[in-house]
Amino acid sequence: MPERPSALVPDFLYGTAWKEDRTPGLTELALRMGFRGIDTANQRRHYVEGGVGQGLAAAYRAGVVTRADLFLQTKFTYQAGQDHRLPYDPAADLSTQVAQSMASSLEHLGTDHVDSYVLHGPASGQGWTDEDAEVWVAMVRQRGAGRTRLLGVSNVSLRHLEQMAAAHPEAPAFVQNRCFARLGWDRDVRSFCRDRRIAYQGFSLLTANPGVLRHPLVAGLAARGQATPAQVVFRFAQEVGMLPLTGTSDAEHMKQDLASRDLALSADEVRAIESLAG
Ligand SMILES: NC(=O)c1ccc[n+]([C@@H]2O[C@H](COP(=O)([O-])OP(=O)(O)OC[C@H]3O[C@@H](n4cnc5c(N)ncnc54)[C@H](OP(=O)(O)O)[C@@H]3O)[C@@H](O)[C@H]2O)c1
Repeated sequence: MPERPSALVPDFLYGTAWKEDRTPGLTELALRMGFRGIDTANQRRHYVEGGVGQGLAAAYRAGVVTRADLFLQTKFTYQAGQDHRLPYDPAADLSTQVAQSMASSLEHLGTDHVDSYVLHGPASGQGWTDEDAEVWVAMVRQRGAGRTRLLGVSNVSLRHLEQMAAAHPEAPAFVQNRCFARLGWDRDVRSFCRDRRIAYQGFSLLTANPGVLRHPLVAGLAARGQATPAQVVFRFAQEVGMLPLTGTSDAEHMKQDLASRDLALSADEVRAIESLAG
């Protein structure tokens, strides 16, 4: 049986998108501030995966963490989601592209395995395609070879997940989605995940939901807990079973984001936030 998400998965992930030259320094800083989960992708257009590896190496050298302390997650991205800086031969078949992208990720990250390998997004917004099936089978093969512990999919709809479930014997361990409050915080996908013990990773919790951050309910809870509205949103996310991501570049925000786990919200307050916008 494949391994399921467990205590080895931290309760917050640090996201490394859009950091360019600051990627090594911010990755190291995030580890120094206490993050133990790192999310990246072998997609040069939005991530500098090699810079993440440099940040990890600096933290190892300084004795901040060891590889065994960390949960490292990266992604396979189709050519359509890349620019010209591809981590694979675009003329190769998809299974070969997955193998080449994985080999390049392991080199970037200076490790012999990642903890989670994620399909960055399906080939079509309409549904799970034959290409996705080929890539997923190739990802399962990478796991069989010990190059990742767990597998996931990202940017998926309920339709994608249902079709994927019908096509493959095994569910992903993770779904990583942009989480809009106006869609009940991705209610349908989260419910599918809950039923199948798939861990839901939420990104853009702050940037997709500016209205929530300004809402009097959230502002009031923040004031009561001597916290910020961002912390209330992250704590809410954890309370409903999400694994939140933050990509903050600010040391104080890193500290606050991690400290949100100590904020107390009652079940009624969680329900009120959950039904705030949709
Ligand atoms: N699978 C995908 O397709 C996909 C897509 C997008 C993102 N992601 C992943 O998710 C990660 C996070 O991305 P994101 O879209 O959620 O955006 P983000 O990069 O985390 O941006 C969050 C914004 O919120 C601010 N912020 C963070 N903590 C704060 C706090 N405590 N108080 C106030 N402001 C705060 C940040 O500003 P400061 O920097 O000033 O704090 C930043 O402007 C990415 O790095 C990436 O790893 C994945």
